[in-house]
Amino acid sequence: MRVSRRILLQNLIKAGAVATATITLPEYAAFSATSLIEPKRIRSSKGILNVTLEAKPTMLPFEGGKRWALTYNGTFPGPTLVAKPGDVINVTLKNSTNEMTNLHTHGPHVSPSGNSDNPFIMVAPGKSFKYQYQIPKNQEPGTFWYHPHHHESVAKQVSAGLVGAIIIEGESDKLLSKFSDRTLLFADPRIGTTSSVMDTNMMDQMHGRIGDYILINGQMSPAINASKGISERWRLVNASPSLFLNLSVESSTFTVIGTDGGRTKPYEVNKLQITPGQRYEVLVNSSKSGSLRIYDGRNIIGYLNTGINKTVTPVLPAVPALKATKVRTLAIEQGGSGMMSGMRFTFNGETFDPNKVNQKVALNTVEEWVITNTSHMVHPFHIHAWAFQIVDRGDGKPDPGWKDTVAIPVGSKVRIRINFADFGGKTVYHCHILDHEDIGMMGIVEVK
Ligand code: C2O
Ligand code: CU
Ligand code: CU
Repeated sequence: MRVSRRILLQNLIKAGAVATATITLPEYAAFSATSLIEPKRIRSSKGILNVTLEAKPTMLPFEGGKRWALTYNGTFPGPTLVAKPGDVINVTLKNSTNEMTNLHTHGPHVSPSGNSDNPFIMVAPGKSFKYQYQIPKNQEPGTFWYHPHHHESVAKQVSAGLVGAIIIEGESDKLLSKFSDRTLLFADPRIGTTSSVMDTNMMDQMHGRIGDYILINGQMSPAINASKGISERWRLVNASPSLFLNLSVESSTFTVIGTDGGRTKPYEVNKLQITPGQRYEVLVNSSKSGSLRIYDGRNIIGYLNTGINKTVTPVLPAVPALKATKVRTLAIEQGGSGMMSGMRFTFNGETFDPNKVNQKVALNTVEEWVITNTSHMVHPFHIHAWAFQIVDRGDGKPDPGWKDTVAIPVGSKVRIRINFADFGGKTVYHCHILDHEDIGMMGIVEVK
């Protein structure tokens, strides 16, 4: 019998055993009956990718029964969109839900204006909207994703299942063609048969909602069957609204070849912390053969059926370091007044105001943002449209590669350099614990 993480957490809270949102829960999965299924890939051809994404309520098959979800085109995750630098992606978003929604492309360097990645567009129930994304020629190849961004319902809609991956293929993919290319999208939805499964309370919003099980591509502890003699290459997407995934594979290491915003000079790690919103691309090296457990912390969330496997590390260049011309500070605080005292998180004391520009930035400059956190929780900071580099992740050390999401540990000072290049526009930065974003932990940046 598998015990849900959420039920366990509720019992721990009742027993007074939980003081913060960071907890380790016991193992709940112990076998695997199914092979990993990957979302269908839709590719661009002759420079154009045309796709309709219909957001709709769907009963998804789950563990011999059914569960309620919101999906794009009836599957969870939605289709993976595959394009190349220089391509145009045309998405018709059709809203067949009974609430307001919209679409955000998380990560690619595309304009936040007009009908591009504009988070201020709203699509009413029964309506459609045509988005157009011009992928720039200088786009780093890598793994990105899409999800709704309608303020106050982001956590709910993402948790309900409105997520999918975007792959941009470039020159460096040719070097990687000898590896098996898999997309693994992690999510922890709440399991139930009606939409009421999405109901939350103030506790959920403060801690970030926790789901019942950690699923890979919507499956409970699936098995990944490695092809013989080929290393596994995984594109990892953390699409959970609030889960900090601590990923490892038994008797294996990861060679990291890509981060949020593109490829990086390879480096090896035993495990990876992936915050909500982040991506990594890894090669998997296994020193044992057989059915190896895939873990989040101590929880088994899947299996890798493989032989002994030492990856031949591809030669990929280091990302050239950015130099900043301006420093800006952003303080994450916990506060509020009256009833809300202590119950919300702010940037520089402010919560989201759709009519206020919080940061004005000059186009084609690099800024260093110094982000401090005096609240009691780790927050994953995220900014749209322009990628950054982490020069100090809070412990004095840099983190390699292009990023768009970074954990700001409690009591730390993190320094990032953001490349506000190529196009201006107005968009948002926010906490990627999506419940925090929905209660106002978001600001507007205008670049011109
Ligand atoms: Cu993944 Cu503003 O979001
Ligand atoms: Cu985003
Ligand atoms: Cu937060």
